[in-house]
Amino acid sequence: MGTLTATSLSSASSHLNLIPRRPFGTKIKNPILHNPFSYQHPTNSHLPSYQFKRAKFELSTAISSTDTVPAADQSSKDASFGQETENSEKDEKFDWYAQWYPVMPVCDLDKRRPLGKKVMGIDIVVWWDRNENEWKVFDDTCPHRLAPLSEGRIDQWGRLQCVYHGWCFGGSGDCKFIPQAPPDGPPIHTSSKACVAAYPSCVQNGILWFWPNADSQYKDIFSKEKPPYIPEIDDPSFTNRMLTRDIPYGLTGKEGDQLR
Ligand code: FES
Repeated sequence: MGTLTATSLSSASSHLNLIPRRPFGTKIKNPILHNPFSYQHPTNSHLPSYQFKRAKFELSTAISSTDTVPAADQSSKDASFGQETENSEKDEKFDWYAQWYPVMPVCDLDKRRPLGKKVMGIDIVVWWDRNENEWKVFDDTCPHRLAPLSEGRIDQWGRLQCVYHGWCFGGSGDCKFIPQAPPDGPPIHTSSKACVAAYPSCVQNGILWFWPNADSQYKDIFSKEKPPYIPEIDDPSFTNRMLTRDIPYGLTGKEGDQLR
């Protein structure tokens, strides 16, 4: 399941239909889009059409020099060329879990209640942290008994509270309160096992983005790498309209295996 955030922009003098770029900078070869629902694009929809254009390649013929290369030299060149090709393929391997992904336009989010979504196959919960004044994206799984946190609520202290046994979480994913724990007992809520995975997130162009890796090395990823920016969306001389549509898709076969 993926989330498509589409934006159409227009101004008096120009009209642009912008579509989000497929994960950014990827050089995946021949992705196979598998859509089990065979989605038909409605003719009157505002959703921009995706057009997969074939790259035009020019064929050229290299003319060999008349110099002959000794067989031993040639085989060592071939081996080194093969090694370089293999290395460059390794270098180009696209890491799907080290990219920014759009979750929702902020205008479609409700600060009063958590929202569950599935993006990149990950169940996430989006909620407004009024203590830190920002949107948070957590793994949608309570560390206690795995209940979906998106079924919970925002408590009176502005924490995300699980619907099942009432554990409460702060904006860093830290457990703040366990109702069943005796007040004079050990502070079990401070255990790392009581924490939820909190994904890096940010708002840009009016869209909430998340980075689908909660490892601590990505904690400040926004300061090093930003989501793709579309200046026209923030330009007041343009008007824009956003919509989201969930589309189940995946990569199958050899191409999918290569991405794992
Ligand atoms: S499952 Fe969430 S508090 Fe028990």
